[in-house]
Amino acid sequence: MLRAALFLTAILAVAGDAGDSAAEAEALDVVDPSSLVGQLTVLQLKELIAEAVSQAVLPLHNNCTDYSETGDCSLVVENDLCNEAEFYARYCCRSCTLAKQIPTYGPHLSLTAEVPISINVTTEATKYPRGSNVTITCEATGYPIPEVVWFRNYNEISSTGEYEEQVEDLGGVFLKTIRSDIIIHDYSVDYSHFQCMAINSGGLVKSAITINIDTELSVEFLPEVPIFEAKDDVILDCVAQGADVSEIIWFREVEQVGNSNQYKIIERRSFEDGLTKIHSKLTILRHKTSVSGNLFTCTAISRKGGNKEEWKRVFISDVDVHPNCHDLAGGISCYEESHRCEYRQEYVYRYCCRTCTIMGTLSSYGPHLRSDAEAPLEIFIQSSDVEIPFGGDATLKCRTSGFPGRQSISWLKNDTMAEESDNIQIEEVANCTPLLCEVESLLTIKGVKVSDTGKYICRTSNVIGMKDAAILLRLMGDGNIYIDEDVV
Ligand SMILES: *[C@@H]1O[C@H](CO)[C@@H](O)[C@H](O)[C@H]1NC(C)=O
Ligand SMILES: *[C@@H]1O[C@H](CO)[C@@H](O)[C@H](O)[C@H]1NC(C)=O
Ligand SMILES: *[C@@H]1O[C@H](CO)[C@@H](O)[C@H](O)[C@H]1NC(C)=O
Ligand SMILES: *[C@@H]1O[C@H](CO)[C@@H](O)[C@H](O)[C@H]1NC(C)=O
Repeated sequence: MLRAALFLTAILAVAGDAGDSAAEAEALDVVDPSSLVGQLTVLQLKELIAEAVSQAVLPLHNNCTDYSETGDCSLVVENDLCNEAEFYARYCCRSCTLAKQIPTYGPHLSLTAEVPISINVTTEATKYPRGSNVTITCEATGYPIPEVVWFRNYNEISSTGEYEEQVEDLGGVFLKTIRSDIIIHDYSVDYSHFQCMAINSGGLVKSAITINIDTELSVEFLPEVPIFEAKDDVILDCVAQGADVSEIIWFREVEQVGNSNQYKIIERRSFEDGLTKIHSKLTILRHKTSVSGNLFTCTAISRKGGNKEEWKRVFISDVDVHPNCHDLAGGISCYEESHRCEYRQEYVYRYCCRTCTIMGTLSSYGPHLRSDAEAPLEIFIQSSDVEIPFGGDATLKCRTSGFPGRQSISWLKNDTMAEESDNIQIEEVANCTPLLCEVESLLTIKGVKVSDTGKYICRTSNVIGMKDAAILLRLMGDGNIYIDEDVV
């Protein structure tokens, strides 16, 4: 009796939940044609009943339930994930089906779809200076939330408490992500293999990363421009830095340089952030000019036997550099292109007076001190063919060189600017060094017609001036087009 009463109460409670239908149901018993309900057509009534019935007695398959105790299935429905992957439909079948996001029957009922477990291992770098603090991060995603275990060189280390480990639950909808950071203080072994394993009742995955000691050596040779007047101290500096750097050795050409009556070497060492820094200072004491033009090399050697070197040609002169003699193009540019001093070009002497004087290719006094020489603007025009058939392609090449700056190139045809079109292509390539710019322009005429014949002028200009070169395309009696470079 009591059971029946409880059952009845439950039904009434459910009915109450569905809306204030109790009153409506009573009203239905005695249909008053003047009431709203009375005006419902039979068809509308049928529709209403069909809808109510389909919702109430939707036959959920036995295999169709919500497996998540945490209420995540409602979030799966809210985020429209039911169709994202089959495992959502499998583990949130009831919620997804009731929300009509999946059909009542389907492959998800076979309970085969597995929740994938995935893992990522990351670190800021894989090479560290000796003594660094290294943090490795593992992010694992799965359901139920995976647990993370670390291995170093295939030995489990999480349970030893040897390393600092920080674990954070990053949450997620149904699929949960956990993050584990392992921190290795004072990392000092050359090589270690770190592996993260994520495991849950569904399975396990592993991912590994290898950490090395950074054995990179850096070497710096100063001064940037080793061009000296002999009356000054001639000092070369070499700074080497690295986790394993052990010494610096100097060479003059192929001969090792040590402390002697000609050279003095002073070395300072420091240790910072796991890196050793060696600063070696080489002073050339005597007969300085006898080593002018020689190659000096600074070689840094690491304990592991590796080495790295920097070399520079050093110029020292005892001639007096005239006060009006400067490197107008800049000391670095003149040093980088010091070979140009040997070409005996007036403008190079003017722009790199000091460098060329100390190198010995230019005397300390002379007309160059008052020179206003500029680089000649050069232009050459040529064609790859002297003769092409009517309708063939012609390629005209215009090569220029100049300084300072990058000269411009333009093409003229019959005194009007030639521009790119369906059958005319223009391509430009430049190669500029601090003391000279070479610019080349290629004009290609596709399918040469009578209207394409005539005189083509290549024109180049820079701050110094302007120069032209011309080439002639002529249709000859044999129907071929002749290209004549010697046009003035
Ligand atoms: C329901 O699950 C069982 C395994 O638990 C499976 O053998 C059966 O085929 C499933 N039913 C359907 C309709 O897929
Ligand atoms: C791992 O990284 C990939 C690509 O960076 C990303 O698509 C994936 O979601 C990540 N997985 C986890 C578990 O963080
Ligand atoms: C490494 O961490 C320890 C402790 O947190 C700290 O004292 C030390 O300065 C850190 N070392 C480096 C190189 O950052
Ligand atoms: C070039 O110019 C001349 C004179 O202005 C003209 O007669 C000739 O047709 C022109 N040629 C082309 C191919 O445009």
